[in-house]
Amino acid sequence: MLDTHFFSFSDGTLCCDSVRLDELAQQFGTPLFVTSRQSLVSQYRSFEEAFASLPHFTCYSVKANFNLSVIRALAQEGSGCDVNSGGELYRALKAGVPAEKIIMAGIGKSEAEIKYALTSGVLLLKAESVSELRAIDRVASRLGKVASVAIRINPNVTAETHPYITTGDSKEKFGIDEAELGEVFNLFKTLPNLSLQGLDMHIGSQIFDPEYYVAATQKLLDVLESARHLGFDIKWFDLGGGFPVTYDPQKPATPITKFAEKLIPMVEDKGVTVIFEPGRFLTANASVILTRILYRKRNHVGKEFFIVDAGMTELIRPALYQSHHEVLAVTRHDKSIVADVVGPICESSDFFTRQRAIDDAAEGELLAVLSSGAYGAVMSSNYNGRLRPAEVMVDGDEVTLTRRRETYEQLVQNEL
Ligand SMILES: Cc1ncc(COP(=O)(O)O)c(C=O)c1O
Repeated sequence: MLDTHFFSFSDGTLCCDSVRLDELAQQFGTPLFVTSRQSLVSQYRSFEEAFASLPHFTCYSVKANFNLSVIRALAQEGSGCDVNSGGELYRALKAGVPAEKIIMAGIGKSEAEIKYALTSGVLLLKAESVSELRAIDRVASRLGKVASVAIRINPNVTAETHPYITTGDSKEKFGIDEAELGEVFNLFKTLPNLSLQGLDMHIGSQIFDPEYYVAATQKLLDVLESARHLGFDIKWFDLGGGFPVTYDPQKPATPITKFAEKLIPMVEDKGVTVIFEPGRFLTANASVILTRILYRKRNHVGKEFFIVDAGMTELIRPALYQSHHEVLAVTRHDKSIVADVVGPICESSDFFTRQRAIDDAAEGELLAVLSSGAYGAVMSSNYNGRLRPAEVMVDGDEVTLTRRRETYEQLVQNEL
């Protein structure tokens, strides 16, 4: 069992804070995302505490979980937002986050998105190529504005994580190469509607070893020195997100304090405000997917399957990254069996666990897929004609519906 205070058993029933998950299933149906607001707040505070001695600004990376209530809960703690598209910017603004606390990333921003960001008045646009810088200048010039820009550097550091979530390596599409920096600095000298205010990196996600951050931060510090030498007044120093969480109790994440211990001494006296963009760290363990066992079956070679009503359409991580999620029966049983927990989608990759021990729960009982709060609901889809599930937020003994379950009408509403 994951060591989280926010999902725990009480009298043999799994609860979120003090609310029984079986009662939530009864009230809202399944599959259902259940998020603990106190977990979000507690993760945010532990992050802030770790970096308290550093002048910094934490921008929650909305891509991990863009539910308005999640954004709002973190914003109420003081967080800004890192958004990756016009849609995420819209969500952050809609959640009440002031534009001057929003930074915008994205390797392929359209001119419409750049215009939306500039007219909204976001704090920074993070640019990833020469062509994008020219586009930002063009749009800013049409609007009669000077765009505040950070350049995302590709530090060519290959962080050890799943290959699909490493982003700071020069074979990946992200960021500006060292070799291009001369041209980039020249652009800022010649294009009148760009102002270079920050340097940025993001080397990947779920990174356990702080040394990768150290190596990449050193490269960013070298760029800071060059930029200052050329007369640029760099205010923002963005080290990205990627801080790890525990999905598998056998593989506990490195505590955030270990990252702080390494990074603070490197940057504290550099005259910059450090930006962090944690996503997963804040939300992953704040939510579970509550799902009902539709059927159990045992095949001719004796393999057991639990077929549940949630699947890869709600949580694609196991299919995409072979990621580990703990799955628990909501009502405790004395006996366990080894089984696959699979969804109803027509893909063999539609599974939550394979050949793992699980309580011997019966058809109709409930399971909880833990650690589903990051890159879960945001990656959900209507594949197989599935309806996106409802979402609730729990705070102590209070329960709020934060997203209604989709309907069949919504499945076809945009089709003509
Ligand atoms: C630019 C950027 N910042 C922050 C994040 C958040 O990463 P994580 O959820 O691992 O903290 C991502 C994730 O892909 C990203 O691309």
